Amino acid sequence: MERVTAGKECLRFSVTERSSFLEEVLHGLRQEQKVLPCKYLYDARGSQLFEEICELDEYYPTRTELAIMNRSVDEMAAQIGEEVLLIEYGSGSGRKTRLLLDSLRAPTGYVPIDISGEMLAESAAVIENRYPDLTVSPICADYLSPVEIPSMDKPVRRRIVYFPGSTIGNFEPPEALEFLTRMVKQVGAGGGLLIGVDLRKDPAELERAYDDAEGVTANFNLNLLERINRELKADFAVEAFSHVAVWVRDLGRVEMRLVCNVACEVTIGGQVIGFRAGEYIHTENAYKYDVSEFESLAVKAGLSPRAVWTDTAEKFSVHYFAVSDDSC
Ligand code: TRP
Repeated sequence: MERVTAGKECLRFSVTERSSFLEEVLHGLRQEQKVLPCKYLYDARGSQLFEEICELDEYYPTRTELAIMNRSVDEMAAQIGEEVLLIEYGSGSGRKTRLLLDSLRAPTGYVPIDISGEMLAESAAVIENRYPDLTVSPICADYLSPVEIPSMDKPVRRRIVYFPGSTIGNFEPPEALEFLTRMVKQVGAGGGLLIGVDLRKDPAELERAYDDAEGVTANFNLNLLERINRELKADFAVEAFSHVAVWVRDLGRVEMRLVCNVACEVTIGGQVIGFRAGEYIHTENAYKYDVSEFESLAVKAGLSPRAVWTDTAEKFSVHYFAVSDDSC
C-alpha cells in the first residue's frame, strides 16, 4: 500500500486498494475453509465499533492494559530511556500512548502507523497539540507491509516500537515471529519493544470477551460483510450470518467466525460463491500466550526480555524487550 502522511489522503488510493480488496476477498472465499483478511474489519465504521468494544464490560483487555500502564508507566519509561523515536503500530485512539508520552523523558518523535486514515489523522492531531516539542509523523499504511520510518531533525538515541492491545495475538505464531523479526530490523541495534499481550485464562471469560451480550462485537464482525456489499457491490444477505467466538484450546486461540445459517449464494465482482447451511467464514484469531511462552517467541526474533508487568489477576501482560546485541 502507498504511503501518505495525512490521514484523509488515504482515500485517494481507493482505486488500487479496491482491486486488491476484491482479489483478497475472492481468494479467501474460494478456500476450503473460507477466510477473510481481518485487516478489512477496520474501515471507519469498524474502527468506531472497535472503540466501543474496548469500553464493554466483557472486553477486559483494554481496561486491564490501561490499569497496568497507569500503575507501572514510570518503570516502563525508565526502561525505554530518553530522546527516543516512538513508533506505534495500529495507533487507534491513542489513549495508552498519551499515558506513555506523558512519562517519557524528552521523546524526539512519534510515528503512528494505522490503516484507518480518519482515526490516524484525529489521534495524530491530538498528540501534536499536546506535545509541541515532539515531531509527529503519521503514516497511513497497513503495518504488515514494510514501512519506511522518516528521519528526524533532532537526535534520536533509540527507536522503540509500541504495540499495545494484544494485536500481536491476531497473527498466526509464525507470522508473529516474522513480524517481530522485521520490527527488530526496523528499530535496529539499541532499539526496544513495548508490547501488550493477552494471557491464557478461563475459556468462558475469553469467549465472552469476543461475544458480548449487547452484540457490539457481532456488529463489528458482520460489518465486514456490509463493507464488502458496499465497496465491492456484493449481495451478502447479512441477516443470514451470525457471529460466533470459539476458544480452540489446542491452538491457543479464540476464533472469530461468521456462520451462515442457511444455504445461499453471494455474488461478488461478478463471481458467485456458494455457502452450505452451517458453513462459516473464519475472520480473525486472537492467540493467548503465557508470559514465558511469549518471551520464547520474542527471543527467537532477536529480542531480550527486560521486564514484564501484569495485573494482580494476571489477565494481561505488558513486556519490554531490548534488541539482542547479536541480532543486528
Ligand atoms: N486485538 C484485539 C484482540 O484480539 C482485536 C479484537 C477485539 C477483535 N475484539 C475483536 C477482533 C473481535 C475481531 C473480533 O483482542
